Amino acid sequence: MTTNPAPSTGPGSWSDESTLPSGSRSGAGLLAGRVALVTGGARGIGSAICERLAREGASVALHYRSSADEAERTLSAIRGHGVAGVAIAGDLSAEGEVDRVLGAATEALGPVTLLVNNAAYTRLLEPAELTMQRWRRFMSTNLDAPFEMMWAAKDGMIAAGGGAIVNISSTAGVTADPRMIGYGASKAALNHLTQTAAVAFADKGIRVNAVAPGLILTERSETVPPELRARMAEGVPMKRGGQPEEIASVVGFLLSDEASYLTGQVVVVAGGR
Ligand SMILES: NC(=O)c1ccc[n+]([C@@H]2O[C@H](COP(=O)([O-])OP(=O)(O)OC[C@H]3O[C@@H](n4cnc5c(N)ncnc54)[C@H](OP(=O)(O)O)[C@@H]3O)[C@@H](O)[C@H]2O)c1
Repeated sequence: MTTNPAPSTGPGSWSDESTLPSGSRSGAGLLAGRVALVTGGARGIGSAICERLAREGASVALHYRSSADEAERTLSAIRGHGVAGVAIAGDLSAEGEVDRVLGAATEALGPVTLLVNNAAYTRLLEPAELTMQRWRRFMSTNLDAPFEMMWAAKDGMIAAGGGAIVNISSTAGVTADPRMIGYGASKAALNHLTQTAAVAFADKGIRVNAVAPGLILTERSETVPPELRARMAEGVPMKRGGQPEEIASVVGFLLSDEASYLTGQVVVVAGGR
């Protein structure tokens, strides 16, 4: 059984390579030599995460569903950091796709030891618009797929000596907004799955955390009417929406050995909420 050893010289500092989890590598960047898979990585927050992980030295498998042009652009940015990258298409709500995407990532780049479950079905709906079909879509994309991906990836991580997972949640998982009933329920369940998986895998060298963004200014948020967006930003203590990079930097930290004693947490990144 693999365990996460404690740093030998104080919080966050690894002075002796023999004490590193065996999935760790030395080199430039916090994630040098690691292999990451980011779902929904073509655009928005996912794209910023891909770039950040590449900047920290990880090879990155970028999963996307339909945004092929954006995937190509993000892939170029990944490779621009001098690391290997690959783009893999797939609808993660479809039977068998999680295994296929993970298999393709592993075949292209090696064992995946860093996983970011970022892809999600995100849509504001009035309660009357929330049909059973849409409810199932929220659950299959935002909860079932991260569960399946974690379960599919964990054995490879254990065999590699350890790994780290970040699930991208939302403040909608801890607040009650009638336009986000299905979305909020899927994210609340994802938070609980994160906490329980973290405990289940804690003695196997796998850390599992979630990041819960508040209002983040992506292509998607541009579809929200400007007046509503301004009102939403006004409700943020910092009086502004966040940038995708402000989520990506937290994800990079959580995946790195700088967070070696941190697991099972939902980190809210929402300008003071
Ligand atoms: N932006 C915000 O304000 C905000 C706030 C809180 C939480 N979040 C969370 O942050 C994450 C990223 O959000 P975002 O705003 O950057 O992205 P987004 O524009 O909502 O897109 C999410 C990505 O998920 C992918 N996707 C959707 N359904 C899929 C499926 N069935 N199979 C595979 N991929 C699928 C899409 O891929 P394609 O584009 O390739 O189709 C898309 O790129 C999500 O988990 C979201 O819930 C965002």
